[in-house]
Amino acid sequence: MSAGVLRGFDGPTQLDNLGDPTKAVGKAPAVALIDPRYGHNVGNALRACACFGIEQLWWTGNRVQLDSWKGERLPREERMKGYKNVQMFNYDRFFDKFKDVTPVAVELRPGTESLIEFEHPENPLYIFGPEDGSIPRHLNNLCHRLLVIPSHNCLNLAAAVNVVLYDRRAKRVRAGLEENLSIGELLKEHRGPILSNS
Ligand SMILES: C[S@@+](CC[C@H](N)C(=O)[O-])C[C@H]1O[C@@H](n2cnc3c(N)ncnc32)[C@H](O)[C@@H]1O
Repeated sequence: MSAGVLRGFDGPTQLDNLGDPTKAVGKAPAVALIDPRYGHNVGNALRACACFGIEQLWWTGNRVQLDSWKGERLPREERMKGYKNVQMFNYDRFFDKFKDVTPVAVELRPGTESLIEFEHPENPLYIFGPEDGSIPRHLNNLCHRLLVIPSHNCLNLAAAVNVVLYDRRAKRVRAGLEENLSIGELLKEHRGPILSNS
């Protein structure tokens, strides 16, 4: 693992969970971002993965990179422990790293399934396009499922990741595949400001 800094992201800016992709083994469920343009979207996709129990975030291209670690220890880091459970890899050939996986292209295209009725596969690799483009055809053709979020307008990239991962969590909880966290557990886990009723 090496460390790096993600610019323009309001989570922990110092990250030490950047993995060496050449040694990595793809582990579903996972998220892959194709050539993202903005660091804050990669950061907020990382945050979504941490919040919804996804252990790997891959991204391609070189428009978002982690700067080399400067060694400062940021005070926020401690209360953001959850991020450390997510491995990050910047690697163009991410597909080669997965064996048993169901690639799901998340994109507005003809012939896609709506998220409303979508049954999430057991081993998904959710693939999202860039802010200023879409998933390239050759990658789209490799996907077993095509998924659209029925929103009136196109969502921000990180928002789309959040919606899909939340939907997966909600459906798994309803199906009894995942535990529904009680409010007590949520209050214990959340390290941010806690609102009181008074
Ligand atoms: C901001 S959108 C891309 C914009 C759009 N392709 C364009 O050229 O204007 C970034 C990514 O978020 C995802 N996304 C956003 N809204 C979506 C929706 N309603 N359904 C499925 N995917 C969506 C897709 O993966 C998309 O490639």
